[in-house]
Amino acid sequence: MSERTLVLIKPDGVRRGLVGDVIGRIERKGLKIVAMELRTLDADTAKAHYAEHSERPFFGELVEFITSAPLVAMVVEGPRAVEAFRALAGLTDPVKSAPGTIRGDHALEIGENVVHGSDSTESSAREIKIFFPDRF
Ligand code: TYD
Ligand code: MG
Repeated sequence: MSERTLVLIKPDGVRRGLVGDVIGRIERKGLKIVAMELRTLDADTAKAHYAEHSERPFFGELVEFITSAPLVAMVVEGPRAVEAFRALAGLTDPVKSAPGTIRGDHALEIGENVVHGSDSTESSAREIKIFFPDRF
């Protein structure tokens, strides 16, 4: 049983040259990249993607950050892909993330934590439609 998840290498990850590292971890885990694009998000797309956080105090900064420079968006597929990528990514707070995870190895700040991964199959279906509307 295969599923799909939306992965973003956020602007901090692209700026810091971590695209190869993140892709390498995904590939070594055995997950498959089935779509990928480098793009700069507009504010409407960013707000739609992070709609669940629209009432949170950090929402404005989050949208500003995610639209600030190019990111890499990809659809990643495999058995339990949602959970598998979240395990590779680590926790939202990079300082609490174990070394060996993407965030645990590469980040210190919650607001610049290198990657996004969908948190459920419902979220991944919604998010994949936002980023790759005609592909899946
Ligand atoms: P969230 O969905 O809670 O985390 P995750 O990315 O692990 O699914 O939050 C989305 C992003 O919002 C998070 O990656 C970074 C940012 N954020 C903040 O800037 N401050 C915060 O207090 C939280 C919870 C998130
Ligand atoms: Mg989330």
